Amino acid sequence: MRTTCGPLRIACAAAVLLAATTLQAQEKAPVFDKAYLSSKKNIELGRSVWEGQCRHCHGAAAYPGKAPKLNPGQLEPGFIYDRVTYGFGKMPAWKDVFSVEQRKGVVAFIKSDDFSP
Ligand code: HEC
Repeated sequence: MRTTCGPLRIACAAAVLLAATTLQAQEKAPVFDKAYLSSKKNIELGRSVWEGQCRHCHGAAAYPGKAPKLNPGQLEPGFIYDRVTYGFGKMPAWKDVFSVEQRKGVVAFIKSDDFSP
């Protein structure tokens, strides 16, 4: 990368590093407390995300082998959020498709008793 740092090279490098770190920290994994996860509103928001974009791969009726059937009891909320946000392998990333609230909501839905794949 070409920089225009000149004699202040070290300070400049530090600034670039700081900027990169800040950028990464922008989307810290949110905290999922009981109140959030049990909110009907969050669960309903998540249900619409699931039905619109997740079910056709993960659903009970999806083509076998397309995606693993989720086992919510074994998935930490933060892990689900991370997979939904950044994707993994053949699982698409949804960071630019769904808002933070929608991505958090789908976690609430998956962890809820309402969840039906
Ligand atoms: C195009 C098909 C596809 C769609 C659409 C999709 N997924 Fe996935 N998903 C996958 C695949 C394939 C994996 C397995 C990735 C791996 O581990 O290699 C996966 C993995 C996951 C995992 C991790 C499961 C585990 O046990 O490791 C979660 C959680 C998940 N998906 C949730 C979702 C949610 C929520 C949505 C909707 C926003 C969604 N997926 C949409 C294909 C899809």
